[in-house]
Amino acid sequence: MPAIAVLGAQWGDESKGKLAHLLSEGADLSVRFNGGTNAGHTVVVNGEEIRFHLLPAGSLWNCTAVLGNGMVIDPFALAAELKLLEEKGHRPEIYISTAAHLLLPYHRIVERLSGVGKGLGTTGRGIGLAYRDKAERTGLRAGDLLSPRRFRERLEQKLQREQEIWGESKELQQIGPRKLADEVLQVFEPLRERIMETAQLLNRALDRGKRVIFEGAQGALLDIDFGTYPYVTSSSTTIGGIGVGAGVSPRRVERIIGVVKAYTTRVGEGPFPTEEPGEIGTRLREQGREFGATTGRPRRCGWLDLVALKYSMMINGFTELALMKLDVLSGLSQIRVATHYRRGGKLLEDFPSGAEALAECEPVYEELPGWKEEIGECRHLNELPPPAQAYIAFIEERLGVPISLISVGPEAEANIPRSSLFAESPKFR
Ligand code: IMP
Repeated sequence: MPAIAVLGAQWGDESKGKLAHLLSEGADLSVRFNGGTNAGHTVVVNGEEIRFHLLPAGSLWNCTAVLGNGMVIDPFALAAELKLLEEKGHRPEIYISTAAHLLLPYHRIVERLSGVGKGLGTTGRGIGLAYRDKAERTGLRAGDLLSPRRFRERLEQKLQREQEIWGESKELQQIGPRKLADEVLQVFEPLRERIMETAQLLNRALDRGKRVIFEGAQGALLDIDFGTYPYVTSSSTTIGGIGVGAGVSPRRVERIIGVVKAYTTRVGEGPFPTEEPGEIGTRLREQGREFGATTGRPRRCGWLDLVALKYSMMINGFTELALMKLDVLSGLSQIRVATHYRRGGKLLEDFPSGAEALAECEPVYEELPGWKEEIGECRHLNELPPPAQAYIAFIEERLGVPISLISVGPEAEANIPRSSLFAESPKFR
C-alpha cells in the first residue's frame, strides 16, 4: 500500500494528527504539503500530548519527514519544534523542498497592519501574507538559503520594500535585514543538506514501492479554491494539494482517507449551517475539548453535515472515511444530522461553497436516537451501543463510502479498526 492521503473533510481539526501518526508507523515517508504553523496536529503518546505545527505527525516514528513545496515554513517555529522533539528523544530525519516558501517575522506584522484576513478570523500567523508573496513572486524560498549571499540580498530588498510601504510601523522598522538573515541562516545551518527537490525524492520513493503518508492540514471546506471563500485558508487542502504541494500525481495515491469528526466544528469566521450556538454547542465544545490547537480559541460546534461532506467527497474522491471523536456524542438523547439544506424555500442537495449562498442555507435534519454509554473502551463494532452502530451505518449509507476506522478517544489505542489497512498497525489491534 504505497501512498495514503489523510485529508480533512470538514473545516479542519478533525484529528488528522492522530490518524496520520498511527498510519505512519512502519511508513517510510511522512509528508506535509500545505499550510504552515496555522496547523496544529495533536498526538497523544503514553498519555502525553505532542503538538505538531510544521512537521508531519509521523515524525515520532522512524519515518522520514518531508516538508513539501506547498508549505510556508517559519524557520524559528521549525527550530523550536525540532528542539522540543529532541528533548523528548526524537530526532526525525527531515527533508525540506527547495521550493517551500519561508514565512518570516514581517509576514505576521504585515498581516496585522494591512488588514489582510481581517474579519476572517485567521490564526494571525502571517500565512495569507506568505502565500501572497508566493503568488506575487516576491517570496523567499528554502532553496535561496543554499546561496547565503543571494538570500541576504533578496531578504534586504524584500524587507526594504515592506518597510517603505509600512513606514509608520515601528515593529517592522526594528527588524534589521542582516540580523534576520543571520538568524535564519543559523537556524538552517544543520538542515542545509536537507534542502532538496523533494518532488523527486518522493516520486523515486514511490517508484521503489516505499510507503508514503501525505498528511493534509486544515480541511476541504477551508481550501483556497473549493472552500467557503473568502473564509478559507490560503492553500490547497484537498487531494489536488498533493500534486500542487508535493509534486506527486494524485493518481499515485491509492487510499484517500477523508477524516471526519462525528459532529462539526469551525474556528474563525464564516458560514456554518449546522452550528449550535446554544447548549448543545457548549456541550460538544466541553466534551470534545474543542479549543484551537494553535490559537486556543474556542471552536464553534454543531451537528454533522452530510451536504458538506458529500461535497468534500466529490472534490477529494475519498476511498474511505475515518470517523473521529464518536465518544464525544455519548450522553445525548437525540443526534441530528443535516441531510439537505433549505434556501429561499427550496430544498438543496448540493453544497454551495460561496459564503453568501451558504449563509442563506438552513439545515434540514434527520434525528437519530443517541446513546448514554461511554464507548472509549470499545474496540469492536459490536461492542458499541446499537444506536452508535446505527449512526455509523446511516453515515455510510448516505455517503456511499465505507468508514474504515472509528476513533473513540484521544489515545492512540482508542479505535475500532474496520479495514486491513488499520489492522496492519499493532496500535490498531
Ligand atoms: P489562516 O490560515 O491563518 O490564514 O486562517 C484562515 C482561516 O482558516 C481562519 O478561519 C482559521 O481559523 C482557519 N484555519 C487555519 N488553519 C486551521 C486549522 O489548522 N484548523 C482549523 N482552522 C484553521
